[in-house]
Amino acid sequence: MNLDDTRLFAERDPHRVREVLAAFATQCREALALVAEPVVRRARPTLVVGAGMVGSAAGGDLLAACAAEQLAVPVVVHRGYGLPAAAGKQALVLASSYSGETAEVLSSVEAALARGAAVAAVTSGGRLAEMATARRLPLVRLPGGLMPRMALGYLFLPAARILARVGLPVASAGDLAEAVEILKTMAGELGPERPVAANEAKRLAQALDGRMPAIYGGPTTAGVAYRWKTDLEENAKVMALAGALPEMNHNEIEAWRAPAAQTLHLTLLRDNDEPPEIARRFAVLRDLAAPAAGGVSECRARGAGRPARLLSLVYVGMWLSYYVAVARGVDPWSVPLLDEVKRRLR
Ligand code: PA5
Repeated sequence: MNLDDTRLFAERDPHRVREVLAAFATQCREALALVAEPVVRRARPTLVVGAGMVGSAAGGDLLAACAAEQLAVPVVVHRGYGLPAAAGKQALVLASSYSGETAEVLSSVEAALARGAAVAAVTSGGRLAEMATARRLPLVRLPGGLMPRMALGYLFLPAARILARVGLPVASAGDLAEAVEILKTMAGELGPERPVAANEAKRLAQALDGRMPAIYGGPTTAGVAYRWKTDLEENAKVMALAGALPEMNHNEIEAWRAPAAQTLHLTLLRDNDEPPEIARRFAVLRDLAAPAAGGVSECRARGAGRPARLLSLVYVGMWLSYYVAVARGVDPWSVPLLDEVKRRLR
């Protein structure tokens, strides 16, 4: 598959996902200006729960990764019906659903309201927006027309702003501006016009060469590894594995043996500020697994602040999944089986 043949993109990407991805920095810049109305009044909750599924949960994972070393208050991501028992009156629930129609998130909102927890909704519409409007809940109304996983900037950055508003800032304005600048630069480096030789995402897609991607992050990038997996699954319709160090050193490492590991491509997500003990673990993992693996790639985060480092890694994964989709001849936009599950459960 020649990913430098630009005719392929017009043929195999009828919904023009390439343009959505190329505009991701613009989406993030716009997202920085979105606010909840009415404003969130709960000051310093003792627990923040990001309620969402997959594309709409990824913003919560980024919030939690930014918050981990900064906030004394836990930020947890809840993927499912209801809420964890710990989410009581002093909690803030960020209900995130791009479509506003996701049953699990609607049920989390019901649970939060029944328990007297504060709720803020982040959505482009649907029943979630209706519920928020009817009950005068803080609502960030997002622009519509995207696939949820492609609206990550809209789902993450206004939620960070809500946390700042309740006294729990997870990133400075400078860090957020840096992230947008880096994404803008990367858009020029990762798009279809950039040839394989100078395009990290195309190179990664070619390196996979039909093997199953196994993506590992470190303590702060575990959520990004999971995001790469879900983008590959939804956009490219290929199965992928995700895990994190140090945990995988104690279990999955045993599966990196010949001959089965030949069918896997080891992909390591590296962060410049990873602690030395994690860097050593990545080096040992590579030494032990590479001889058995079908291939090995590394991808490095960019920037100084946590938002830039996380978003830059996510962005490479978005483009990677796009190129794998195009190479396989599948539409990166539509998700017919996911839609069918939702239709049957309606
Ligand atoms: O990106 C997608 O299409 C999915 O992963 C959705 O995010 C998921 O099905 C949940 O839907 P929503 O984000 O609209 O709540």
